[in-house]
Amino acid sequence: MLADSYGRVATDLRVSLTDRCNLRCTYCMPPEGLEWLPKPELLTDDELLRLIGIGVTRLGITEVRFTGGEPLLRRGLPAIVAGAASLTPRPRTALTTNGIGLARMAPALAEAGLDRVNVSLDTLRPEVFETLARRRRFDDVVEGMAAAAEAGLTPVKVNAVLMRGVNDGEAADLLRYCIEHGYRLRFIEQMPLDAQHGWRRDDMVTADEILGRLEGAFDLAEADPGTRGSAPAELFRVLGHTFPDGTEATVGVIGSVTRPFCGTCDRVRLTADGQIRNCLFAREESDLRTPLREGATDAEIAERWTAAVARKFPGHGIDDPGFLQPARPMSAIGG
Ligand code: GTP
Ligand code: 5AD
Ligand code: SF4
Repeated sequence: MLADSYGRVATDLRVSLTDRCNLRCTYCMPPEGLEWLPKPELLTDDELLRLIGIGVTRLGITEVRFTGGEPLLRRGLPAIVAGAASLTPRPRTALTTNGIGLARMAPALAEAGLDRVNVSLDTLRPEVFETLARRRRFDDVVEGMAAAAEAGLTPVKVNAVLMRGVNDGEAADLLRYCIEHGYRLRFIEQMPLDAQHGWRRDDMVTADEILGRLEGAFDLAEADPGTRGSAPAELFRVLGHTFPDGTEATVGVIGSVTRPFCGTCDRVRLTADGQIRNCLFAREESDLRTPLREGATDAEIAERWTAAVARKFPGHGIDDPGFLQPARPMSAIGG
């Protein structure tokens, strides 16, 4: 079991498959991209699957989420998914993607054993998409979401980060669109995890503001708090609106900064270069790649992993006076 000293147990493993991306979202990385991790430092598919296997069979991991960068850029993705899905006990599997290439990949991923996807979409206007993501790929994302739903990778969740003066006027439109298509939309507060270190608290569109904007257009009611568990998203019912399947529409708000959920966090992260991070904002990482490559046994690796989680801090500390953004940016940690 991966327990920390505050009584939390990590059961959700988020695996970053690459730090590369084919978009350049302004809240994430600079236009020129970043210095990518050198290939020899990346875990191979076999190494990844060995670590995931240790997590699932020895350490109580029950959900494996693949992230990036952009995980669809990882060539071996279907085989990695298949490897994870064939473990006993079978973990739930999910993918967080920007949706580019998903139209082509969705059937193979479903076939490989992927259960569901979360797709990032911040705007419904192609020209705003190009400003925000610095690439003209709006149509690919929309097609990708539709293909995922068609392939049964459901519920398809949509992540939207609102940026002041860019797309913050689109909250209601995004929700209308997602309800109509049966996608579960969640708005995310921007976190200080961008590579450029340009995040300013005053610029952030807060959960309160997001809800205020939505309430101008919809009647919202808090969902039963008993159903939230360790989910980062606070869920609201959208009264009088239904998804195409007839169930009541919902919208989520992930208020990581102003409404932190660290107290119920059940996550642990594995970076593409084989480091365990016990928190998005962790100040330290534990290297599993070196022992793995030096012939450590599963038990030895499990022990190192357990110790890494035990050292997890109680919270992200964004409000602490001495807060320092982690050295590794979001794109290299996995959202
Ligand atoms: P599901 O609801 O189970 O699909 O998972 P999820 O919402 O965690 O998945 P996703 O990868 O789509 O992440 C959505 C947003 O939540 C992203 O902006 C993540 O960075 C943020 N997030 C995920 N995990 C954490 C976490 O441990 N801490 C914080 N503060 N934010 C997180
Ligand atoms: N703050 C909040 N969310 C972010 N994402 C990327 N960078 C940030 C940030 N600095 C989102 C992406 C994606 C999810 C994995 O994380 O838009 O939806
Ligand atoms: Fe790529 Fe995601 Fe960063 Fe956008 S937020 S540049 S999609 S890694």
